[in-house]
Amino acid sequence: MRERTFGLVTVGLHTSVPDVQSRKKSSAGVPLVMVTAYDTPGALIVDKANVDIILVGDSLGMVVLGYDDTLSVTIEDMVHHTRAVARAKPRALLVADLPWMTYHLSKRDTLRNASQLIRAGAQAVKLEGGAKRRRMIEALVDAEIPVMGHLGLTPQSVNVMGGFKVQARDSDQAQTLIEEAELLAQIGCFSLVLEGIPSQVSEEVTNRIPIPTIGIGAGIHCDGQVLVFHDILGFQEKGDAKFVRRYADIGKIATKAIEDFARDVQSGRYPQEKESYGL
Ligand code: KIV
Repeated sequence: MRERTFGLVTVGLHTSVPDVQSRKKSSAGVPLVMVTAYDTPGALIVDKANVDIILVGDSLGMVVLGYDDTLSVTIEDMVHHTRAVARAKPRALLVADLPWMTYHLSKRDTLRNASQLIRAGAQAVKLEGGAKRRRMIEALVDAEIPVMGHLGLTPQSVNVMGGFKVQARDSDQAQTLIEEAELLAQIGCFSLVLEGIPSQVSEEVTNRIPIPTIGIGAGIHCDGQVLVFHDILGFQEKGDAKFVRRYADIGKIATKAIEDFARDVQSGRYPQEKESYGL
């Protein structure tokens, strides 16, 4: 984030798409940080932590809405949650995911859906896939909507992949992924998420393309890293993916707090005089 001084006051300016675009690790040095958020309190927490990008990911479906995958997430869901995140007025760049089947049918449909996310407060959209999505990405860029690409383990392709599996492990697949990354950069994506691929492949992509790569389960060589809010904070009890590093155990802390509250109510210890109003 840049700063500007007005008289005696220095204020931070919003992180912009060109700010992110200029953050190749090789030139800027410091890796980009992207974290997901889905509501106002979450966005406030993430933005206070000075991340560069907040992603309203369609992981929403799995970590907030209780689905087993992201395929049930609709554009209405994404608009609703993007609005909630935007109400936090984050300094970070706000990127929102186009969910499955909202950028597949026609350019017109894609533009209408993406513009809903922009009007909800996003500054850019993210979508999954390479060459197959070329026409849609070109239409978005042409309409002045910045696009973040997403290659590798693309969760919207879960049925084609046969599960959430690491991709591009053999040399043909790795070569295809590298070519698709080059294509996405060439047609105007401003950055690229690389998910669930071997470090050697993300290193090659990162060295070859002029836009920043942001990795998740893609090793150390990317220009930045992204993790899901609920994974960083340890909301879920179930086992984490190999690439997740938990920085807290919020799930356990929250359950303990609610248990304490319930016990206090049940035993008559809550509320006390100081927690009650008089006449
Ligand atoms: O939906 C999401 O949260 C994502 C990130 C994991 C990159 O796409």
